[in-house]
Amino acid sequence: MSTLYTGIAELTTNDPERATREDPLGRVLDAALVVEDGLVVWTGRQHEAPEADDRVDVCGRAVLPGWVDAHSHLVFAGDRTEEFEARTAGRPYAAGGIATTVAATRAATDEELRRGLRRHVAEARAQGTTTLETKTGYGLTPAEELRAALLATEFTDEVTWLGAHIVAPGEEPADYLAELVGPQLQAVRDHVRWADVFCETGAFDEEQSRTVLLAAREAGLGLRVHGNQLGPGPGVRLAVEVGAASVDHCNHLSDADVDALAGSDTVATVLPACDLSTRQPLAPARRLLDAGATVAIASNCNPGSSYTSSLAFCVATAVLQMGLTVAEAVHAATAGGARALRRTDVGHLAVGARADLHVLDAPSVTHLAYRPGVPLTHSVH
Ligand code: NIG
Repeated sequence: MSTLYTGIAELTTNDPERATREDPLGRVLDAALVVEDGLVVWTGRQHEAPEADDRVDVCGRAVLPGWVDAHSHLVFAGDRTEEFEARTAGRPYAAGGIATTVAATRAATDEELRRGLRRHVAEARAQGTTTLETKTGYGLTPAEELRAALLATEFTDEVTWLGAHIVAPGEEPADYLAELVGPQLQAVRDHVRWADVFCETGAFDEEQSRTVLLAAREAGLGLRVHGNQLGPGPGVRLAVEVGAASVDHCNHLSDADVDALAGSDTVATVLPACDLSTRQPLAPARRLLDAGATVAIASNCNPGSSYTSSLAFCVATAVLQMGLTVAEAVHAATAGGARALRRTDVGHLAVGARADLHVLDAPSVTHLAYRPGVPLTHSVH
């Protein structure tokens, strides 16, 4: 069964064969696209389109690949409204707030956690997100981390074990580290694709982080790192050293950090909504791109530091506050997210890609930043 999409005012393909220096999005105007068995089989100008079994007219709208959100924490219960309010009155964000969500999550039933996941995943999808990574990290025992991983796998294949989020409340750091690389890793290793570590003052230091990452790599997991969020630190350097797919946050970078990322396969995932919500200096996405690093944009949807599922908001912020062009920001939230997840089937609409289509109620992706805050997702296919 094939479907021909017509009436596409602007088609963002992210197809390397169509991309140019002027247009990294490889856009086609007055375009059409053919989908067969869930895959893109043809893209081009509408007047050259082949026949298909079925036809959908998007009536002059823009079409782009679904967002690839490579960083979220959706297995949680409760919220942290009071902490957010205190922040608006000047109290700084600190890792300690995570313990509040750990307590609420442990107290929740499977069905309560599942309901939250369902709601947040649906909310993200309704705004154009078609691939979503999500993390454990609010359980912090072997049984609770396994429970979180299993619940997350009901909603996505991109599940990350983040037992190393903070030292579990009431535990000694050395004991907890032994639990992480022992029973906790054993409990989750067959149910997750990735392992992540919060390498930051107040969470895990460089040596502890390296210990967890190397054990996870030995267990066959891909690696991710939360690094350089709250201050300068070893996170980025360590992520590059261990070959992590992504280092996320990247707010406080030295020149050596930027150079290390530019010379590596590790993606710098920036989290604009988190930077605003925690009042951190914005991650230097412009500097990273200029140096040649690969940048992804993700939501970091979680109840503490970034309670939004809107990639459109993140893209608009990256353009209006971080100095990216619209094309760079859209690329980072689609192809960049795919690179951060080491995926080649999503984040683009070249022939062979998964046909994850995000139709905007606008004639071009420029409107994502030109009309910030306006819900522009028309439909998601
Ligand atoms: O990516 N930084 C660590 N983890 C999350 C925050 C989680 C929370 O505050 O509950 C983040 O920002």
